[in-house]
Amino acid sequence: GQTGSGKTFTIQGDAKNPGLTPRIFEELFTILDSMDNFEVSLSCYMVELYLESLKDLLRPKKAAEVPLEIKKNAHGMVVVEGAHEIPIESLSQANKIFEFGLDNRKTASTNMNATSSRSHLVFSIVINSRNKQTGQRTVGKLSLVDLAGSERVSKTGADKERLKEALAINKSLSALGNVISALGDGKKKHVPYRDNKLTMLMEDSLGGNAKTLMFVNVSPASYNTDETNTSLTYAKRVKNIKNVAVKNTKSKQTDKMNAIIMELQGEITRLESKLEEGGVKFRRTNTNFNIGEGDEEEKEFDPDEE
Ligand SMILES: Nc1ncnc2c1ncn2[C@@H]1O[C@H](COP(=O)(O)OP(=O)(O)O)[C@@H](O)[C@H]1O
Ligand SMILES: [Mg+2]
Repeated sequence: GQTGSGKTFTIQGDAKNPGLTPRIFEELFTILDSMDNFEVSLSCYMVELYLESLKDLLRPKKAAEVPLEIKKNAHGMVVVEGAHEIPIESLSQANKIFEFGLDNRKTASTNMNATSSRSHLVFSIVINSRNKQTGQRTVGKLSLVDLAGSERVSKTGADKERLKEALAINKSLSALGNVISALGDGKKKHVPYRDNKLTMLMEDSLGGNAKTLMFVNVSPASYNTDETNTSLTYAKRVKNIKNVAVKNTKSKQTDKMNAIIMELQGEITRLESKLEEGGVKFRRTNTNFNIGEGDEEEKEFDPDEE
């Protein structure tokens, strides 16, 4: 959505109306408290993309600033090398860390909204868990992304710095649009994630192994019809993306169980063909028993859900 339409408010809210982030923290800790069977550790990183350069918002004041690099780990999870990953021990600490990062966020004024941010914000919580009984480890990530405003360059003012910001924002949002188009197309073809740092940062939230929810904020004013139209067209394209999310797990236990399952599957097939030889006809309904990796309930990206 364009600047002033309520994106940041949706993510952060205020004291009276908490936004997504404080609500997510609360929900997350409620869930964790009920997971007696698991050892769970949380950590987070928070980066800002401003004029094509990345900034670590959780860098301790005394730590040296190092160049950040976007990479992917063995799970296909995006990692920002050089950015501080801070352990989260409690709900109040989570809120404090988020506030600390926000204080560091670069803001500049535009004609449209004096306090609006001209940067993209990515806040990610990495969740590592271990099942105490099976030893199975699972790693997941929850990312909150607050995008910069998508308004037309002409509305942002003639100031040279503002123009530079607007062009960088348009470039990154176009790159995001292109990735969304390629993903929504259905056919497996090249997805241009690497065209922009924003799409590199969001790669594991968009096309891969993820469940994604996108909010579109629009202005009701007729003066903003163009932007509203652009935002809704964008949203329509996002609706075409279908993601399949599976748990990132791996353990000796599941390897062993999968081997046993494969053996049993072979046994079933052998018995079935024997029965068929004897004239018995039947239909098997479930043929995929593999567990652990790649079998979690398949979930399509559906913005209408929930
Ligand atoms: N649902 C809402 N209720 C109350 N105030 C809101 C709401 N949504 C946005 N605002 C206010 O409108 C202004 C612009 O919203 P903001 O979230 O900063 O827009 P954006 O991030 O899209 O530029 C802010 O002052 C914000 O507090
Ligand atoms: Mg904002």
